[in-house]
Amino acid sequence: MIEYRNLRVALLGAGSVGAQVASLLLEHGPELANRAGAGLELVGIAVRDPEAQRTAELPAELFTTDAESLILGADIVIELMGGLEPARTLILQALNSGADVITGNKALLATHGPELFEAAEQVGAQLYYEAAVAGAIPIIRPLRDSLAGDRIKRILGIVNGTTNFILDRMDTVGESLEAALATATELGYAEKPDPSADTEGFDAAQKTAILASLAFHTTVPLDAVYREGITKVTLEEVEAAKKAGYVVKLLAICERLTDADGVEGVSARVYPALVPRDHPLAAVHGAKNAVFIEAEAAGDLMFYGAGAGGIETASAVLGDLVSAARRHVIGGPGVAESTHANLPILPITAVTTRYQITLSVVDAPGVLAEIATLFSEHGVSVEALTQSVQPQSVQPHAIQNSTTPTATLVIGTHEASEAALAATVEALEASDVVSTVTSVLRVEGL
Ligand code: HSE
Repeated sequence: MIEYRNLRVALLGAGSVGAQVASLLLEHGPELANRAGAGLELVGIAVRDPEAQRTAELPAELFTTDAESLILGADIVIELMGGLEPARTLILQALNSGADVITGNKALLATHGPELFEAAEQVGAQLYYEAAVAGAIPIIRPLRDSLAGDRIKRILGIVNGTTNFILDRMDTVGESLEAALATATELGYAEKPDPSADTEGFDAAQKTAILASLAFHTTVPLDAVYREGITKVTLEEVEAAKKAGYVVKLLAICERLTDADGVEGVSARVYPALVPRDHPLAAVHGAKNAVFIEAEAAGDLMFYGAGAGGIETASAVLGDLVSAARRHVIGGPGVAESTHANLPILPITAVTTRYQITLSVVDAPGVLAEIATLFSEHGVSVEALTQSVQPQSVQPHAIQNSTTPTATLVIGTHEASEAALAATVEALEASDVVSTVTSVLRVEGL
């Protein structure tokens, strides 16, 4: 047996991921030591309540409530406590004492990333965060290392399992949003009592900021990520999408764009969008995650797997632990974050995409021509149009009991700017022949 130098590993947090990290580290320590070229000694686990129930049985003597003392003397600190504070302060303390830090804290990275990366660089330490985006899926290291020689054009990600589960239930089982959310809550995917971190796209936006920063070598702050959640998506929209050959997915989109003034920049955005059924992302079901990368030289790549879960995410953390240990063995400074491109962050108005718009209209001569004129007046080109006449029973209130028949129009557009589309929708809403603009969804992945 090879005798290795021991590296002291301190763990902060023993929730669903932390407990599994500790358990796997204790179980597979010698094997990981062989991979790392150093012994990995778990010197303690800082928690708020040492008596709390854990998902793994762990030696009681490892627990402490004194995180600050635990950090002192550690070679590697693993932060899995979540939240902004005290996680930020403890990570800064660890980095300033020269320890490498591993974290899965996406909220902290998306909010205070530059401060933490700067602190690591100052002392030659390194911050690892494979677990912060898409749980078990290797995506940080592929972007940072494997694709470092390529240029990323676009990333389309399903990075929130809860919302993917909900939208998938609507699509495959025909549940309403409310029913699918109730199922997600029952199965423990959605947070109780407030699921909005997932359903309003906040969680996905944090991950988008992290991915866009890495992909485009540019600091993308969380507040520059445009965000819409899934709470307005209706079963009718999901069913209409299905008929038209699409599936609705909450997408994290990171894109290199040139705006109307010729400025090259980065767009980072999260919204529910229609994805063609033959796109690889359409096959991502349940609470699974996937990140689809379009690179200039490599072409299309997709990374798929578990986006959450204690033991699954622990795999990503332990991968970082082995990398950090290898670095300690070799010596030298950590790899700093690459922000050399420093591209401008473009607003949502710079984005051009296709749209699918559903309208309830008066079914009378000249109506189609009037609607077509509204589109052309705003420079939006119609690609496809289907019309179905609604039975009287499902007509909107405004014209129910009247003798005016109504029809549903589903209009697909060619690429148009957000600004042109918004102006078109405003004009449609004001038009006498339109009773309701039922739905406006972007189409991505074409
Ligand atoms: N709540 C997240 C999700 C998992 O539903 O994917 C943690 O990021």
